[in-house]
Amino acid sequence: MSREFTVQGVGVTALAEEFGTPLYLYDGDEITARFQELRSLLHPALEVFYSLKANPNISVCALLHAAGARAEVSSLTELVTARRAGVEPRDILFLGPGKSRTEIAACLDEGIAAIVCESLGELELIDELAAARDVLAPVVLRVNPAFTVKGSGLTMGGKPRQFGTDEEQLAAARDTLARCRAVRVHGVQVYLGTRILEPAAVAENTGRILDLAERLAEQLDFPLELVDIGGGLGVAYFDGEKDPDPAALAELVNPLIAGFHDRHPGTRLVMELGRYLVAVSGTYVVRVRYTKTSMGERFAVADGGTNHHMAAVGIGSFVKRNFPIVALQRLDEPSIEHWNITGPLCTPNDLVGKKVALPELRPGDLLGVLRSGAYGPTASPVHFLSHGYPAEVLMVGGAPHLIRERDDVESMLARQRLHLPAGAAGPNRERNR
Ligand SMILES: Cc1ncc(COP(=O)(O)O)c(C=O)c1O
Repeated sequence: MSREFTVQGVGVTALAEEFGTPLYLYDGDEITARFQELRSLLHPALEVFYSLKANPNISVCALLHAAGARAEVSSLTELVTARRAGVEPRDILFLGPGKSRTEIAACLDEGIAAIVCESLGELELIDELAAARDVLAPVVLRVNPAFTVKGSGLTMGGKPRQFGTDEEQLAAARDTLARCRAVRVHGVQVYLGTRILEPAAVAENTGRILDLAERLAEQLDFPLELVDIGGGLGVAYFDGEKDPDPAALAELVNPLIAGFHDRHPGTRLVMELGRYLVAVSGTYVVRVRYTKTSMGERFAVADGGTNHHMAAVGIGSFVKRNFPIVALQRLDEPSIEHWNITGPLCTPNDLVGKKVALPELRPGDLLGVLRSGAYGPTASPVHFLSHGYPAEVLMVGGAPHLIRERDDVESMLARQRLHLPAGAAGPNRERNR
């Protein structure tokens, strides 16, 4: 038998047997090691917050928390996830452009480090809710700066965006800030873009964000107790891309942090990271159900597809680019054929990989989409065709842990309510057979 893919010494064939497919497999030790490597390189004054949106599984969050990560959350469920994973309120930031009253109230009741406020309207709502509770709401202003960033796969600032408040609008918002007496503005957050591979681009952003924070705090006269420089550090997915070098990142960013820290020794400095911490440690494992050819092209139809891995369709690009895909049980075999890897959906867009060079595939083969630990099922249409969520397994210290059960028919139907038209017959299992 050809060499097979293993995680911490455990073979994928056995794991697929035990947990079934489609399956997300995470190497927890690698996630921890990746965090620790970065932590050891970065200036100690720069705190690393894990962005749960990249992979909100509670066990992944708990793993990173155990390694020393704080948490950046963007929904009530993410907030509760972080708390149940053990993250202390003082190490949680809540951001997102459309926060509900319930979410803001939960932030106030939990006493988290800060609500990252994304608009002046939101500021007034935070003020109202804080005043009703007779508390001072800790708020950090998310700024959409006048400058933009080079080298980002997806730009989130420096252009018309729903995120944050434009720099010029904030500079003119003294009155609004003064009116919101139950709000304590004490910092600035900027997130410019995701999938940045060049450490120099992150460093350039950092320098500009730190300057902006100092400028705004002075203009608007608030204490600078927290500055969140975003991050956006990516990983290589596609041909021609290169992983960012964390040592090079630290070399460029640390002096900026050190300089700022000297000027503002009491200020918390935050970097938010999602993808960089969890992407490379995840593999999406699917089993080939059928192989066929159509008009000269080979297709391997697998039991899972873009319903669990929307990013594989192609992120930030109009041209289809493939994630790294391997035949997991035949790593040594030469890639002699080109295969379109598809899933069970009834749409031609369900194309996980296009003309991927692989060995000859057969039904039953296990395929792995590598580097898939971030923005996987939770960023995909898992309910399409009612297939539901795949299983997730976290490997820690050589042992597999099921951290998310796959959906089944009952879990998929559990929240639906059957409303029958008047006069229709009731549910009849026999009749439906
Ligand atoms: C405000 C904010 N912070 C953090 C992140 C996490 O980004 P990444 O996974 O690229 O580290 C995102 C992603 O979109 C974001 O919008």
